[in-house]
Amino acid sequence: MTKAEMDEKLRSVLTEQRYRHSIGVMETAMRLAEAWGVSVEKAEIAGLLHDCAKDIPHEVQEQMLRNRDVPLDKPTAASPQLWHAVLGAELIQEEYGVTDPEIINAVRYHTTGRAEMSLLEKIIYVSDCVEPNRTYDDREERLELAFTDLDKSFLGCINWSIKSVISRDRPAHPDSLAARNEIILKESLA
Ligand SMILES: [Fe+2]
Ligand SMILES: [Fe+2]
Repeated sequence: MTKAEMDEKLRSVLTEQRYRHSIGVMETAMRLAEAWGVSVEKAEIAGLLHDCAKDIPHEVQEQMLRNRDVPLDKPTAASPQLWHAVLGAELIQEEYGVTDPEIINAVRYHTTGRAEMSLLEKIIYVSDCVEPNRTYDDREERLELAFTDLDKSFLGCINWSIKSVISRDRPAHPDSLAARNEIILKESLA
């Protein structure tokens, strides 16, 4: 599938607002990929497609995951907002013809993060959090920080995400805690 075909297909399955967000993530991810010496093309595809399953109703997402025998760990099963990443990693292969495992993992882990993330995975995670359509106070600083200290920018993003589930008495995913701890421990040893 060409990138133009991916773009057209994605546009047909997302709300206008989500599509705009996806373009923002794609453009941000491409700039960061360039800065960090990662494949700009992989960042482009992963950024564009990362939310391809997000506008599918949760009950349909659940059914689609079940039909594909995709196993969910307990905290993921209990957190419908995480399902679109797991399902998205399947759909980019089935519907968009993506075969690259690095792109697939960048989509798969864009909501939780995980320990030992690749640079591409971190770039997609951070881009999702700092793209220009997001509106929160220190967005711009966090975006700029991503060009000089990707881990520190990532930490700001994942702290926000973990705080948000904690404040709602929702489970914090162990992969998110592992990603966060890894960076903090690395920095404290430096
Ligand atoms: Fe997402
Ligand atoms: Fe997103």
